This record gives sequence, C-alpha cells and structure tokens, in this order.
Amino acid sequence: MPEHWYREAVVYCCDVETFQDSNGDGVGDFPGLITRLDYLARLGITCLWLNPIHPTPNRDDGYDVADFYTVDPRLGTLGDFAELIHEAGNRGIRVIIDLVVNHTSNQHPWFKSAREDKDSPYRDWYIWSDTEPDDRREGMVFPGEQKETWTYDRTAKSWFYHRFYDFMPDLNTANPEVRAEIKRIAAFWLQLGVAGFRMDAAPFVIESTPDAPKDFAFLTDLRAHLQWRRGDAVILAEANVGADEVGQYFGDSGGSANRLHMLFDFALNARLMLALARGDAEPVIDALRDTPKLPESAQWATFLRNHDEVDLSKLTAEQRSDVFAEFGPDKDMQLYDRGIRRRMAPMLGNDRRRIELAYAMQFSLRGTPVIRYGEELGMGEDLSLHGRDAIRTPMQWSPSVNGGFSAGQELVRPVITEGEYGIGKINVVTQQQNPRSLLSWFERMIRTLRQCPEVGLGACSVIDVPMPRHVLAHQADQPERGAMVFLHNLSDEDVTVDLSALGNHAEQPYELLADRDYPSVDDTLSKIPLAGYGYRWIRLRDSRGRRTGGQVVTRGGTA
Ligand code: NOJ
Repeated sequence: MPEHWYREAVVYCCDVETFQDSNGDGVGDFPGLITRLDYLARLGITCLWLNPIHPTPNRDDGYDVADFYTVDPRLGTLGDFAELIHEAGNRGIRVIIDLVVNHTSNQHPWFKSAREDKDSPYRDWYIWSDTEPDDRREGMVFPGEQKETWTYDRTAKSWFYHRFYDFMPDLNTANPEVRAEIKRIAAFWLQLGVAGFRMDAAPFVIESTPDAPKDFAFLTDLRAHLQWRRGDAVILAEANVGADEVGQYFGDSGGSANRLHMLFDFALNARLMLALARGDAEPVIDALRDTPKLPESAQWATFLRNHDEVDLSKLTAEQRSDVFAEFGPDKDMQLYDRGIRRRMAPMLGNDRRRIELAYAMQFSLRGTPVIRYGEELGMGEDLSLHGRDAIRTPMQWSPSVNGGFSAGQELVRPVITEGEYGIGKINVVTQQQNPRSLLSWFERMIRTLRQCPEVGLGACSVIDVPMPRHVLAHQADQPERGAMVFLHNLSDEDVTVDLSALGNHAEQPYELLADRDYPSVDDTLSKIPLAGYGYRWIRLRDSRGRRTGGQVVTRGGTA
C-alpha cells in the first residue's frame, strides 16, 4: 500500500495568536507554541494546521493577507517558524498552513499598486469593472457583515470584485501570472518545511467570478507542482460543494486522485449536527450512503467544530430550525442566517456523555479527524465578542492569570474567566491531573484511534441489520490492517444491540474503547448492551489477519 500519511493523521487546528504567548505582549506566538508541542504530542495529534500566519491588518482573523512570503511579526520571526517546523518534526508532528489565495488584504502592495495605476503590472491581478455591475450583491458569503460583492474604489475609479469583505479584493485567478505566483507561494513554504496546506475557499480560487466556469485544471496543475517539490505534500481544501461536484475536486487519473488530497466533509458535518440535535442516527446514515465513491488516495477530513460558524446552509429549512432550536436558540448564537457561533460543549449542555459521544462518533467515521484547539477541554464561547470571534478565545492552560495564555495586560482577545467554562473549571493543568477528565478521555480516544488505521484507510459502511433509529452501527474495514465495529447511541435510552449477523465471522472480538465498563463482548455478538449516550468501539479483526464479520463494503458505502 502506498504511504499516505494524511489518511492516518489526527489534525489539530490552532490559531497561533490565541494559543500561547511567550513574551507577554498579549499575542500568542511561535516560541509559545513550541513550548506546547509536548502537550500536543501527548494528546496524540500528528498534524498541526495553523490558521493564517502572515502579516495582516487582521480584520478577518488573518485571512486578509498583506504579504504571502513572511510571517506576521506579532507571531515571531521566520527563524522562529523554522524552529517550530523542526521541533514539531522531532515529535512526529507535521505542520500545514492556510493557503489563502482567493483574495488578498486591500493593504497588500499588489492591490495598492493595482488601484493606484491602470498601467500597474498588478492591475490585472484583481477583478475590475469600469461600469457598475448589474447585481452588486450577488454571491455574498457573509450576509449581514457584507453589503455587496462589487465595491467602487475611488482611487481606481472602478468597481472591484470581492466574494468576502470589501477589504479583501479577489485575485484574478484566471490570470496566468497570478497562477504562477500561487505556485511560487506554495513552493516557498514547502521549501521552509511545511507538509502542505489547508486551501481556503477552493471553489472560488478556480472560478474567478460567479459566471466564469470552474477551471479544475488549475488544481491538477497545482497538485503536480507541489508533488514535484515535496512528494508527500498535501492539500486539505475547504470546498462546501455538493456530492455531484466532489469527484471533480479530487480529480481522477487512472483511479487515483490527482487534484486535492483531502476535502473537509461539510455535508457530514451538518448531518452530524442534525443527528446530535434530533437524537437520531438517520441523518448520518444518509450522509454515509450519499457519499460518492472516492478515487484511491482521496480522503475526507471530518470535523464537528472549526474556526468559523457551524455551517448549516446545506440542510433543509426544517432541519436547520431543529438544529437552531437545540444548539443555538437565541438569535445572538446564530450567524449569517445559516450557522451557529458556539463551541460543542455548550451546545451539548456541557453533558459529558454527549460530548464524548459526539467526538467518538466523528473520530470513528471514515476519513481523517480534524479538531479545533480547546475542544479537547470542553472550552466554551464568548458571545459578547463579534461574530465568529466568539469561539476564538485564548487557549485555557491553567487556572492562573489569563489562563496561563499570557503574562500580558492587553490580550489579543479576552480569556474566558467566569462561569462553567471559565479558566477555574476548564483548563489543561487541572484536567491533566485527573484521569477521568475530558482531556484524559481525548488522549485515550485519539491513541485508540491511532491503533485503528482501518478508519482512515479502509472502507466505511453502515451495518445493515435492524437497529433502533437512535443507534449508529458502522464498520471500518481494511483487508491488511483490520476491521472494527462502532456503536453509538444518540439518545439517553439504554438499548441492547444484536450484531450476530457479523458474529459468524468474528473470532474473539474485543473492546478498545467504550463509555463505561461493559461485560466483555462474546463471539456471537448477539446481545450487546449500550447505555444511553453510550458508545463501543469493538475490534473484529486485527492486522495479523484474525477473522472478522464480513460484508462487502466500499469506501462510499455498502456495496
Ligand atoms: C474561509 C475561512 O474559513 C474564513 O474564516 C475566512 O473568513 C474566509 N474563508 C475568507 O478567507
């Protein structure tokens, strides 16, 4: 089997500015992050995804980039960054960074030059219209925070196009010079040792305006370029697109993906939220069944919470209102009429059983799990902060001043100090001392997953036996690496599950992880108790080839 490290990875998303401050200026930095690498190694993560690290006016959490070729001086120097890559590597952790090339900040020298001079070599790097475009509101991504997608620039005497905020003009990615520059930027960071990229807004990068056709060939070209420079580099892309388009994003050359290596699974994310809200496994089962078959080496990245709002735009109005009712009933908790700006623990009522269930389910589903910093502690949100910043508060390391994040007076964002989610209750030091804490559970769960490579590498299928609606029973199977069965109970009702259909083939199945001590599973798998909000991860076959229950499964679903 070819080595595809990203398919067995556990990805941790970290915003350097809110993780650990080393010099007391109130902003997290690379030296601070380096001191926390041992923490990440103990947690068991293998890939660190850094939110944007470049110089920025910081009006969109760094996604407004002012220079792609260096780091934001608030975070440290390029030297510090190189040390980070080295130190992470020493601990077996790869680092990927955000590649934000759909747009730049309006403070980027390219845009400044482009707006000031019609003859600037950078004029055509952006998208202009000399006449007022017909529908200047079409295609807005942040309704409520954004008024239009074409804005008149007095200096340029022209309208410029921006999918996102008016301070983030879109690059004209149809321009071959811009494409060449994007490839240079990626190659530059590979040269500095990153293992790949989280590609921001991938669909927009290949579609310069809403009417322009998507140019998937650019993704093929970018991938080939990356792979020449670093054979095992990856692109993990943000593309909230329908099942019918997914194949084009991954690409297919002789059965193997040749464009993006990984896509965030937004469809599964929304259905997971719906399933948790309704206490019903059906939405997840539907999502798994609807998943198209992927080419070899293509991979999903699963997630529950990322650094943005929980995006429910692909649910029906009725489904969305069920999720809002359960997880974000107040208007203030919602965003852009489609999402929720809260973290998982508060959404799940800080119910430890439900938090474990949610993350056990995510991590056991096909693909590579991605987790946002602080979720492993059960951190909360600060709704007094603007928009998506609610869930971007500093990491809570200890119960001491500023939660151990910084010795500074003025922090990049306030630490949560009060209440159920304050630093007194939720912090690393306290939880590391307690073997029963959520953090200790995450460590155990992640280590267990790393012993189950079939989840990332193998086929995932819903087990086709009668099951109560609130129980998700699925299987991960990879001929050379083993087979696992997973049971997750989305309601608080205890049940007994019958998996004897698999038992004929299983020899000495045993449990690797569960919400409590259950009696050992026997060979027949006929009566398996499962508590309310309980879960059980059961090994059917290990990599030494012990027998398993076998139905024919494919990566997309049951064959
Ligand atoms: C998607 C990112 O996830 C989001 O945080 C950002 O605001 C937009 N892209 C614009 O870069």
